[in-house]
Amino acid sequence: MNLNLNGKVAIVTGASKGIGAGIAKALAAEGVKVIVNYATSQGDANQVVTAIESENGHAVAIQADVSKSGDVERLFKEAYAAFGRIDIVINNAGVFKFEPVENITEEEFHRQFNTNVLAPFLTTQQALKYFPESGGNIINISSGASKQPGHSTSLYGATKAAVDTLTEALAKELGSRNIRVNAVAPGVTESEGVHSLGTIIGTETENDIISATALGRIGQPDDIATVVVFLVSDAAGWLTGVRIRASGGLF
Ligand SMILES: NC(=O)c1ccc[n+]([C@@H]2O[C@H](COP(=O)([O-])OP(=O)(O)OC[C@H]3O[C@@H](n4cnc5c(N)ncnc54)[C@H](OP(=O)(O)O)[C@@H]3O)[C@@H](O)[C@H]2O)c1
Repeated sequence: MNLNLNGKVAIVTGASKGIGAGIAKALAAEGVKVIVNYATSQGDANQVVTAIESENGHAVAIQADVSKSGDVERLFKEAYAAFGRIDIVINNAGVFKFEPVENITEEEFHRQFNTNVLAPFLTTQQALKYFPESGGNIINISSGASKQPGHSTSLYGATKAAVDTLTEALAKELGSRNIRVNAVAPGVTESEGVHSLGTIIGTETENDIISATALGRIGQPDDIATVVVFLVSDAAGWLTGVRIRASGGLF
């Protein structure tokens, strides 16, 4: 199967940790030059770059808060300066906090919507300036919670439902420019973010999730990364506007 990814350039937002780091490494393994974006975790981002380079891949870490338009503009400018083209954008950076609706503050609402929803708008606007005339690929990382929200996920689930709709709408809007836009919706996936919640990994909830998962384990970043690699490759050239649930059969 010809993936045709060698030599392409991808920006992976939130690639210093978890699923984003997994996606960055998997793309680099297919010959993609990767921008490892991070907000605050410079040391973690540098470690991802080092891991990629140790496998003879190419990567550069670039700090940018993707919920801020000025930062996103600079991210694309620096990415283009580093590798001379931009073909792929993976909107992975995301934040989550699960709490009952009566506890959700306006500040938390805007934090989650700005990172999970505004950021993909901002990166898409920049991508349209930088993608080659031949087209490009955008992947939005959604969540199982967009269609099957669990307890206390009203805010987070709403941000990811917006991501699903954005994906379908942009697929229609940008298809004539040969830009494919797809979403991957992970189930529970072991990441630094999930560990720091403190309510899943190592608790009874983890066992409940494993029992409810057809394939009987928690997901790993690689489980998501391989789906992303497929979607941005030529092997998925007839797919746009789809949402692939990558959950091992959870939900
Ligand atoms: N893990 C799961 O179970 C799961 C399930 C469904 C969907 N998802 C989605 O998958 C994505 C990744 O989740 P994860 O669990 O891997 O998260 P994570 O371990 O918490 O890592 C989050 C990453 O996003 C970055 N980030 C956060 N805010 C940012 C901002 N404003 N600008 C740039 N980067 C930012 C972080 O960078 P810094 O460290 O530098 O702040 C970090 O690299 C998210 O969109 C999440 O909603 C996760």
